[in-house]
Amino acid sequence: MALERTPQPLRVGVVGLGFAGTTALDAFSSLPGVEVVALAGQEQPRLDELAESRGVPNRYHDWEDLVARDDLDVVSIGVPNHLHHPIALAALGSGKHVFCEKPLAPTGALAQEMVDAARTANRVLEIAFNHRRRADVQYIRRYLDEHDIGRIYHARSSWRRRAGIPGLGSWFTNRQMAGGGPMVDLGPHMLDIALHLMDEPRVTSVSAVAYEELGRAGRGGRSGSTTTGGTRTFEVEDFASALLRLDTGGSIHLETSWASYSADEEDIAVELLGATGGARLFVRNYATDDTVRLYSDVAGAPAVTAPEVHVPAGHHLAVIEEFVATVRSGEWADAYGDYALHRSRVIDAVYQSAAEHREVEVP
Ligand SMILES: NC(=O)c1ccc[n+]([C@@H]2O[C@H](COP(=O)([O-])OP(=O)(O)OC[C@H]3O[C@@H](n4cnc5c(N)ncnc54)[C@H](O)[C@@H]3O)[C@@H](O)[C@H]2O)c1
Repeated sequence: MALERTPQPLRVGVVGLGFAGTTALDAFSSLPGVEVVALAGQEQPRLDELAESRGVPNRYHDWEDLVARDDLDVVSIGVPNHLHHPIALAALGSGKHVFCEKPLAPTGALAQEMVDAARTANRVLEIAFNHRRRADVQYIRRYLDEHDIGRIYHARSSWRRRAGIPGLGSWFTNRQMAGGGPMVDLGPHMLDIALHLMDEPRVTSVSAVAYEELGRAGRGGRSGSTTTGGTRTFEVEDFASALLRLDTGGSIHLETSWASYSADEEDIAVELLGATGGARLFVRNYATDDTVRLYSDVAGAPAVTAPEVHVPAGHHLAVIEEFVATVRSGEWADAYGDYALHRSRVIDAVYQSAAEHREVEVP
């Protein structure tokens, strides 16, 4: 009788102990055939508590020691933005697959080096675009697959907070560590959702503005924030708004704020305007129901459909499941992170346009 071979478990090292690191640790640990064998982070009590409660056998203070292990298949990166690049390069260069938090890097040039490294090493580089995996976003995606709403010529995509600067003075508000404010933090998610729903057009040029009215005055901080590091300074924008032109002739209005005198504590909105129909995602204050509207004409009259879509937590798990499946498939010729690189190039162009007060092209 032929013996059935059990596949080797996938061995993962997780770097970072904040929201991102903990979410990745729990998602990887929950998957069958995946073992988190190493954890790194600089808050010793949290490192001990997480490693013990999740049964992770090896702990490190510095990412370099974790990445130096020669028995890891995957490195998961959940650390301040400026560390994504060195960790990814070291991990890919030593033959590991990488699951990286968004943004890929603080700048497009660094993101390019990461994608090049993945292609050279022939290893997967996947990015945590978890919001695209929200059930309501996926519902709209399915609706668009099944219904023709004509050419989608414009999208409005925004994430705005009333007082939600994550850690005023932490790494998030340090330009070198973060790369920017809400446009580099929340912008990648909102750009990703819009491009995903519009069938991946290329952004060709950007005209943008950015402001720092509240953060610069020490206002608009999120209470109870636990983010780490930083220089106690506020060096980034707290609001940015951009008009993006697309190679399809269409456009996207992308807007993000960490702090502004807006209506809600937090709202995420995506509106798609098609030639014969429309769709809207509106998530007010982390609502998990009643977030989708579809617009059409029924028997000659404007009609609004309100589908009942519930949004469970756990969209990080969905993207990590897909990443693990890609690694296991052995087929990843398309999975070097190029699509995330384009998002990074667009965010670069937003900052350049805002700084130079002119429309700039996206390379
Ligand atoms: N996809 C999402 O929804 C989402 C949500 C939150 C954060 N993020 C991203 O995740 C990343 C981390 O954000 P966070 O909120 O968890 O930050 P955080 O400040 O809460 O945690 C950062 C962690 O990095 C660790 N770290 C820093 N330097 C290190 C080093 N040299 N070696 C080892 N560990 C080191 C710190 O010890 C800490 O545990 C950022 O890129 C952020 O943009 C993504």
